[in-house]
Amino acid sequence: MITDSKFVIWRLKFTDDMNPIIAPSILAADFANLQREVEMINESAADWIHIDIMDGVFVPNISMGLPVVEAIKRHAKKPMDVHLMIVQPDKYVDAFKNAGASTISVHAEACTHLHRNIQQLKSLGVKAGVAINPHTPVSSLSEVIQDIDLICLMSVNPGFGGQKFIERTYDKVKELKLLIKGRGSKALIEIDGGVNQQNAKALLDAGADVLVAGNFVFSSPDPKGVIQRLKEVN
Ligand code: DX5
Ligand code: ZN
Repeated sequence: MITDSKFVIWRLKFTDDMNPIIAPSILAADFANLQREVEMINESAADWIHIDIMDGVFVPNISMGLPVVEAIKRHAKKPMDVHLMIVQPDKYVDAFKNAGASTISVHAEACTHLHRNIQQLKSLGVKAGVAINPHTPVSSLSEVIQDIDLICLMSVNPGFGGQKFIERTYDKVKELKLLIKGRGSKALIEIDGGVNQQNAKALLDAGADVLVAGNFVFSSPDPKGVIQRLKEVN
């Protein structure tokens, strides 16, 4: 894990320790028992709750919308990290903020005027996140990297949980870390898709700060134990 002093201070604003930030993805939870699932996350070592919003247009799947995010918020004791896989996110970010999101990530591929989208997020007072698909080079963020709080690096093609991790991600994390440091950015690197105990350490060694995990957590008979073990990877 990277530990230069300015970065450490910035990172401590997000988590109480220098372990990775763990964000279980509610997409893989039992939707018929969402309150129970959120309470499990509350009681676990998780730092954030990752919430995937899919519109059936930007990605070939529909997940959940604002009423579900509001319902999660009623029980959540951890910050909600909302990942918008939707077109025209500028129309909805204020509503997601009002629903309780702490961080909102928009997809670079869905934003013709990404700089404007980032400024909009900042003006709302949420952490500004930008997600990029596996085919999108990290260099495409070079002109906005200083304004971003979180980069959600997709390690699968967005739209579904439970997919196979794309191995090229390790090199992208390293490239992104260099870009962040070179530009004096404080952005955290979040890895989203196919994260498990096998790839977590290599991702953190490459420079990742936040690990999203859906199926790996919720398909386990001991999700809290899985979260704890991810938290202890270093
Ligand atoms: C994929 C979503 C991910 C997904 C991760 O489109 O953005 O957040 O829930 O799920 P797993 O960990 O199962 O790949
Ligand atoms: Zn996601």
